[in-house]
Amino acid sequence: MNAQRKRTVVLISGRGSNMTALIAAASDPAFPAEIVGVISDKADAAGLGIATQVVSRADHGSKQAHDAAIDAALAAFNAEIVALAGYMRILTPGFVQRWQGRMINIHPALLPAFKGLDTHVRALAAGIRIHGCTVHFVTSEMDDGPIIAQAAVPVMVGDTADTLAARVLKAEHRLYPLALGLVAEGKARMEAGRTVLAHFADDADNGTSVVMAPDPLREETDLEHLARITP
Ligand code: GRF
Repeated sequence: MNAQRKRTVVLISGRGSNMTALIAAASDPAFPAEIVGVISDKADAAGLGIATQVVSRADHGSKQAHDAAIDAALAAFNAEIVALAGYMRILTPGFVQRWQGRMINIHPALLPAFKGLDTHVRALAAGIRIHGCTVHFVTSEMDDGPIIAQAAVPVMVGDTADTLAARVLKAEHRLYPLALGLVAEGKARMEAGRTVLAHFADDADNGTSVVMAPDPLREETDLEHLARITP
């Protein structure tokens, strides 16, 4: 096993499908991050065999006290990286500052477009043809930190917010492990408010090109092709 695996804690509020994707990726001992814990602010969270701690807002008198309790839980897990995965609370500036460069988030849009909630509804209303998801370092501005990785998906004719959300979510489940891996390996670092990406030795042809966008577009095209030739 890789002794250097970065101890990672996932913070969730809800469904936890990205958490599940991270746990699945990290079940490979060669993956550079190890998921050592899950923290939820909701009591019904399931951590899938991973140590799970509920730190609910209602049990704490202020946002500061709540974030301090989360910080204590992270310390108890000896966390080195924090991955927000559908964590639905705004974190206090002190907490964000403390974890800056070591805390990442996934957002269901191609930032800087569509920050905030209801991204798929707004994407459809805007009539964009390409949508997607972003993993970024967390800073004190919501959905505003330096971008680590993005994945694009097409907006199809006839899409509803639900069908679009499902397509983006599939991309999220591939993108988030990829981005966490880059951060855990030190190939994506936050420096002076920007993401610095390592030059990939095995990517010589592409120079410093960024290799972290999976290609759901191609996959979908392949599936369509398959559908056409399959009786
Ligand atoms: C995802 O769409 C993520 O991008 C956003 O919240 C949603 C969480 O879904 N931040 P899940 O809990 O990971 O299933």
